[in-house]
Amino acid sequence: MLVKSISLGNYRNYRELQIGFHPNLNIFVGGNGQGKTNILEAVFYAATGKSHRTNYDGELISWEDKFLRIVLKGERSCGNINIEMLVRSDGKKILKVNNQLKKKLSELIGTINVVLFSPEDMLLVKGGPSIRRRFLDIEISQTSPFYCHNLANYNRVVTQRNNLLKAVREQKEKIELMDVWDLQLVEFGVNIIKKRTEVLDKISPIARSIHKKITEGAEELNLAYVPSVDIQKAEEDSTPQEYFMRKLKEIRNTEIIKGVTLIGPHRDDIDIKIGDTSIKTFGSQGQQRTCALSMKLSEVEFMKNETGEYPVLLLDDVMSELDEGRRRFLLEVVNGKVQTFVTSTGIQEVWAPVKEKSRIFEVKAGKILLVQEG
Ligand SMILES: Nc1ncnc2c1ncn2[C@@H]1O[C@H](COP(=O)(O)OP(=O)(O)OP(=O)(O)O)[C@@H](O)[C@H]1O
Ligand SMILES: [Mg+2]
Repeated sequence: MLVKSISLGNYRNYRELQIGFHPNLNIFVGGNGQGKTNILEAVFYAATGKSHRTNYDGELISWEDKFLRIVLKGERSCGNINIEMLVRSDGKKILKVNNQLKKKLSELIGTINVVLFSPEDMLLVKGGPSIRRRFLDIEISQTSPFYCHNLANYNRVVTQRNNLLKAVREQKEKIELMDVWDLQLVEFGVNIIKKRTEVLDKISPIARSIHKKITEGAEELNLAYVPSVDIQKAEEDSTPQEYFMRKLKEIRNTEIIKGVTLIGPHRDDIDIKIGDTSIKTFGSQGQQRTCALSMKLSEVEFMKNETGEYPVLLLDDVMSELDEGRRRFLLEVVNGKVQTFVTSTGIQEVWAPVKEKSRIFEVKAGKILLVQEG
């Protein structure tokens, strides 16, 4: 999978930009606040319809303007890809894939697959559970429109159910109204838990093998899905849905007192261990970073297995977060097979041999200059 070029109009600090990319490695060098992340964000946005930095698309439009335009030209084994997006400040979006108008963003899914690795991903191990859930959700959503749709529905139900719980607590609504929301929570929730478990079971051996290589055989990485409601425990005479429903009934009073939904995939987590030891609690910072790197790289392989093609890899600022050995490993793994976009404040961070097969761009105040063609 390749991104051949992108053109931007009124996208953040890019008023007008047309840029062609190298099929192997693209390096964006520049000082802070010049527009390096904006480029990667634009590629991510064109591929997924979402920004990794904001939920408000209006923020992406250049401050003085009323709309933005992105045209991404790419290539897959099945042929050329052309994605066109127009986003207006009133929230309206026009999306075209290969000149065909698409009504729903979900129709964009799978056109171009991307894996983004940013400094926040270093918190995959150390940070809160929401970061780990997001890790799974973003990648699964790109390979399954059904999951994407299901997740959006689930999140909507959780919000509405929480509002109702508060209203019941304040005696503004009747408790009987809960039943209809419980049914939906369980229906969408079980689908999410099943899919996440299935995907993590696929990712886990890949991450383990990558981790083994980085640590030269010293560490065995184990990933496991930790559900807040263990639907696999459903006894023989009940379905996962019935089991989930029973657990909800058991905690209903507590939920009303707290005014929030306490169980379901929005409360789940991933357990990350080296051997039998929890790396979140006992791992050194270096070990935690290595685990994060192994997990991110496993996503690249996972997507290849799912779609038959390597995704495009976006590495925002991560080179400076990794030591020389891990940097070298990362570039060795991707070099020659995964089209990669790297941002960096200094070129010295990039491993020299890869520079040969790359294009280096200098980014300055929303302008991009090609400085080296490898
Ligand atoms: N909607 C917008 N309109 C115009 N400019 C914007 C908009 N949103 C952000 N910017 C500008 O974009 C710049 C940030 O760009 P970006 O995040 O790509 O920087 P960067 O080169 O990645 O910096 P760093 O090295 O600090 O990560 C800032 O100067 C910011 O003011
Ligand atoms: Mg940046």
